[in-house]
Amino acid sequence: MPELIVVENLRKYFPVAAGNVHAVDDVSFTIDEGETLGLVGESGCGKSTTGRLLIRLIEPTSGRILYRGRDMASMDKQELHGLRKEMQIIFQDPFSSIDPRKSIGETIGKPLEIFGMGRKEREETVDALMEKVGLSPRLYYKYPHELDGGRRQRVGIARALSLSPSFIVCDEPVSALDVSIQSQILNLLQELQETMKLTYLFVSHDLSVVKHISDRIAVMYLGKIVESAPSLDLFRNTLHPYSQALLAAVPIPKLNRKRERFILSGGVPSPINPPTGCRFHTRCPWTMDICSQQEPPLTDRGGGHSVACHKVP
Ligand SMILES: Nc1ncnc2c1ncn2[C@@H]1O[C@H](COP(=O)(O)OP(=O)(O)O)[C@@H](O)[C@H]1O
Ligand code: SF4
Ligand SMILES: [Mg+2]
Repeated sequence: MPELIVVENLRKYFPVAAGNVHAVDDVSFTIDEGETLGLVGESGCGKSTTGRLLIRLIEPTSGRILYRGRDMASMDKQELHGLRKEMQIIFQDPFSSIDPRKSIGETIGKPLEIFGMGRKEREETVDALMEKVGLSPRLYYKYPHELDGGRRQRVGIARALSLSPSFIVCDEPVSALDVSIQSQILNLLQELQETMKLTYLFVSHDLSVVKHISDRIAVMYLGKIVESAPSLDLFRNTLHPYSQALLAAVPIPKLNRKRERFILSGGVPSPINPPTGCRFHTRCPWTMDICSQQEPPLTDRGGGHSVACHKVP
């Protein structure tokens, strides 16, 4: 499949009183049409900022994002307006950005209203959307607070789908849900991807969540991608110590117990003054002299499996 999104040397620095927050710091990757790229890492590593950059909710400090081969920075008003239909985002809490006094039906139909669809057609479209995401038509006139978490997320998904997008950033969409509900929502997202030919960037702090839904996974640490690989590869042959540490938190099948693993200690260092060289050196059990002096480049070790570590051969 052709590339839908190409990201080149993307950076986002947030100026704050103490300096610049290096939220995303020279990140490059691609997402093919119809593919799901999982983006994982601890909280504060720059995942949401990356997602927001891709759909132009915020502007990059530097670097390029190409959408269908077109540089987003050079798009005119009309093209950007069109992009607003093509790109959507699903949040952990779908109602953080939604008016609680609007009914479910109105909420889902809001983007259609903004884009000028008349009332009658809008209601029909919303009915169809609700069916698509498994919401009973009875819920049309209910209010957000009357729904449980899983149904609320279905409303968030229906709303994101309303303008028939091509690309959706799923930002921790199941992180607030019970495990049993999580898999229902993940299955729904996967089904919708197939029927609607969607492309996803799927963001999560939890590797076990992205495992099944992702075709490829990129692991992010302090604004950088430290490892990326086809999903199965990343789990079978985890190369970067940070990825291994994240995996240690995931239950793994018995056969795999040999994998060298350790538990992460301490928090993520400040992204205002990130560690020199390899940003992971302050927490890495393998750290050597060179690690604090030289940044390891992200290089392909074959089969599309890239890793940034001086120690990995
Ligand atoms: N608008 C902002 N102003 C200042 N700092 C920000 C802003 N948005 C995010 N950050 C900081 O950028 C870093 C990355 O944040 P984020 O992308 O939300 O990480 P993640 O989604 O991986 O938890 C964090 O240190 C966060 O505090
Ligand atoms: S480059 Fe060094 S500090 Fe960084 S992950 Fe590899 S061994 Fe650890
Ligand atoms: Mg986030």
